[in-house]
Amino acid sequence: MRPAWLEINLSAIADNVSNLKTVLGPQREIIAVVKADGYGHGVLPVSQVALNAGARMLAVAMVEEALELTQAGLQAEVLILSATPRQAAATIVEYGFHAPLTDMAGAQALSQAAQEQHRPANVHIKVDTGMHRLGVAAEEIADYCATIKSLPGLAIRGIFTHFASSSSDPQFTLAQLGSFKKVTAQAEAALGYSIPLKHCANSGAIVRYPESWLDAVRPGALIYGIPRNPGGVYMPTMRQAVTLRANISCVKPIEAGAGVGYGLTWTASQDTQIALLPVGYADGYDRLLSNNADALLRGQRVPVVGAVSMDCTIIDVGAIAGAGVDEEVVLVGQQGDENITVAEIADRCDTVIQEVVSRFSPRLPRVYTHDPGDVRVKELELVDSGQQ
Ligand SMILES: Cc1ncc(COP(=O)(O)O)c(C=O)c1O
Repeated sequence: MRPAWLEINLSAIADNVSNLKTVLGPQREIIAVVKADGYGHGVLPVSQVALNAGARMLAVAMVEEALELTQAGLQAEVLILSATPRQAAATIVEYGFHAPLTDMAGAQALSQAAQEQHRPANVHIKVDTGMHRLGVAAEEIADYCATIKSLPGLAIRGIFTHFASSSSDPQFTLAQLGSFKKVTAQAEAALGYSIPLKHCANSGAIVRYPESWLDAVRPGALIYGIPRNPGGVYMPTMRQAVTLRANISCVKPIEAGAGVGYGLTWTASQDTQIALLPVGYADGYDRLLSNNADALLRGQRVPVVGAVSMDCTIIDVGAIAGAGVDEEVVLVGQQGDENITVAEIADRCDTVIQEVVSRFSPRLPRVYTHDPGDVRVKELELVDSGQQ
């Protein structure tokens, strides 16, 4: 195996889901967001563990991701979050996926596919309450529902919206929530029945606004244990599941005044030792981390020096006597008492935590672990993942 890999602790994911379930209480469902290959963690193992730990449904971004789950043999309700192309309507109905209703043409295509196949099209009405991304405008929902009511074959399983800034703007988030509640009542009045699953909360809203939990919540970050600066009152106990590890591929002395890496962006201020790690930006270890991150060696922080290149990153190990080839270094995650969180990496790259993990490339092998004796995960036969 390549001497650089992502270790995913599935016990952490199981705990994160079941701790969240405890916080939410028995009457609220969890829709585990596993799009983008389970936020880079590996969609199949993550999905299985999340379902076993109490998630009711899985959510992905696109039809292809939903098919991957079904074709691997996973038995679960799968919600597609992004707009689905009209040509995908037949596939959505055939496999029983839950699709978002975002416009009239999409509703008509799903209704037609449902009639052709003599089976219902599972749909969730997507409402735009102010993010101005996807969904039917809040003010148009009553008319929209009055029209789709007459389309045969649509089984309206849910209604949902998405928050624009649940972690940073309470006023706007609560206004969106207020609008969603109002619109949901209008939709139900127009349809003449109650919609079973009303959902809007992502991780940021889950930890801050219990009033947003409604019938179900849609956590992504929370189930991987990566939220930044949580600040929420309803924070379940949570552990980061991912660790990026690499073995040192070479160590060399370097003299004071010598430059390192592309562009020689770092110059040794004293004689020291540098070590090469076989991980680069093509693995998802961002170039913005050049001269701007630490790694962990023997439980101590050592600096990344010079530019991160496509396949390689350099660290200054002068402070660690006798650091040698094959020694294990942690670039993201815990080693000893030190911890480099995904949130720290996101801060250093001025981005969101979701981007850091979802950009870990397939080139990095995923190695699945669990806590010693954790039978929930140990006895799980990972579906078709090829790894454990
Ligand atoms: C519609 C929708 N719901 C829920 C989530 C989960 O968000 P988070 O990772 O912040 O929990 C996402 C993520 O992008 C999303 O697009």
